[in-house]
Amino acid sequence: MELQYPGKRPLQEIREELLAAAAGSARDIPSDFKTGLAVTGDNYEVMLSLLRHFAGKIDLVYTDPPFNTRSCFFRGTDRVSTVSHGSSDRVAYNDSMPMDEYLEFMRVRLCLIHLLLSESGSLYLHIDNRAGPYLRILLDEVFGMDNFLNDISRVKCNPKNFSRAGYGNCKDVIYLYAKNRDQVIFNGITEPHSEEDLARLFKKKDARGRRYTTVPCHAPGESAGDTGGMFRNQLPPPGRHWRYAPDVLAELDEKGLIEWSANGVPRIIRYADDAAGKKIQDIWLRYKDPQYPRYPTEKNSEMLEMIIRQSSRETSLIMDPFAGSGSFLAAGVRLGRRVIGIDSSSEAMAVISGSPELSGFSFAEVSRCR
Ligand SMILES: C[S@@+](CC[C@H](N)C(=O)[O-])C[C@H]1O[C@@H](n2cnc3c(N)ncnc32)[C@H](O)[C@@H]1O
Repeated sequence: MELQYPGKRPLQEIREELLAAAAGSARDIPSDFKTGLAVTGDNYEVMLSLLRHFAGKIDLVYTDPPFNTRSCFFRGTDRVSTVSHGSSDRVAYNDSMPMDEYLEFMRVRLCLIHLLLSESGSLYLHIDNRAGPYLRILLDEVFGMDNFLNDISRVKCNPKNFSRAGYGNCKDVIYLYAKNRDQVIFNGITEPHSEEDLARLFKKKDARGRRYTTVPCHAPGESAGDTGGMFRNQLPPPGRHWRYAPDVLAELDEKGLIEWSANGVPRIIRYADDAAGKKIQDIWLRYKDPQYPRYPTEKNSEMLEMIIRQSSRETSLIMDPFAGSGSFLAAGVRLGRRVIGIDSSSEAMAVISGSPELSGFSFAEVSRCR
C-alpha cells in the first residue's frame, strides 16, 4: 500500500541519492562534542553531513516538525503567537507548503532519520490530526509496517469552546516507530499511581495506616513439585498450586506479609508503597503544552524527559532535527544524554543559545549548498 501524490520519487532512488550525497559532502561538523551539538541550518543538509560520523549511531529521535498548518509563527520579546502579532515580533517560522511538497519534504527527512538511527533506535514523530494520517503511511513505507509500535494521543490543552462545527480538538498525535522492533530500546518506565488508583487498588489499611491489598497464595494448575506441598498444614486447594514454595510463604508469614482470614485462609499482603507504577498507555493526559512558552509550539518538558528515559540509555546519542526552543535538548542534558539539535530558524537558535541549561553545547552552522 502506498500514498500517491505529485512529485513522489521512488524510495530506493532517494536512499541512493542521500548516501551518494553524504559520501561526497565536503562539509564536516564537529563529532567530538561533549554534552551536545546545536546546528543552525536546513536539517536536510545537516543530517546529510551527520551521516559521515553518525549513520546507525543515534538511539532516539524525537521530532516535532512543522505541521503544515498554513500559519506563520511569531516570537516577540515577551510573547509568542500565530495569527495576531505586534509590529516588533519576528517570524520564528513559516508553516505553509503545498501538501505534496510538504509530504515529500518530510519523506526525505524520514529517510535521513532512518539512516541515522541505530538498530535499537526509535523515532517519536509528533504531529497533528490533519497531516498525521498521511505521514503515518509514509512512515510505514520508510520504517516498514512491522516496526510501527504506537500512535499516542497527547492531550495538548484544556477543552475548547469554539462555535465552529465539529468537536473541540484538544489532542495531537505521536507516532512511535522502531528501526527494528526486535532490538528496540524500551525501558518499561511506568507512571506513578494516582491517589484515586491507590484508593481503588489498595482498599485496606494496616494498624499504621499503610495502604495494602491481598492476593491469593495459590494460582491455577496442580503441581507435583514444591509448590504442590504443605504450607502451615494446608495443601493448595484442588486444581491449584502455591504461588511460591512453602518455605518462601513461611518466610513471608514470619515477616507479617500473610493475612489469615477468620476461617484460616492465607492471602499475601501487597503494600501500595511497594507497588511499581502502572504501565503507560497510549493516551497521554498529563503533558499539556506549557502555559508560558519561550517559542511557538514549544512542547512539554516532562513528556520529553519521559520519552528519553523510556527509549534511550544513559550512553545514548539522541537527536531532535526540528529543535525549536531546544526543549528536547534540555531534557536530554538533564538526563545526561549526548544530544544533537538542528533548526533552520535564527529565532529558535536565539532561544537555544540563550538557554543556561545548554551552555555546555557546541554550536555549528551549515549553510545551504543548493
Ligand atoms: C513545531 S516547531 C518545534 C518546536 C519544538 N518541539 C519545541 O518544543 O520548541 C518546528 C521547528 O522546525 C523548524 N524547521 C522547519 N523547517 C526546518 C528545516 N528544514 N530544517 C530545520 N528546522 C526546520 C522551525 O524553525 C521550527 O522551529
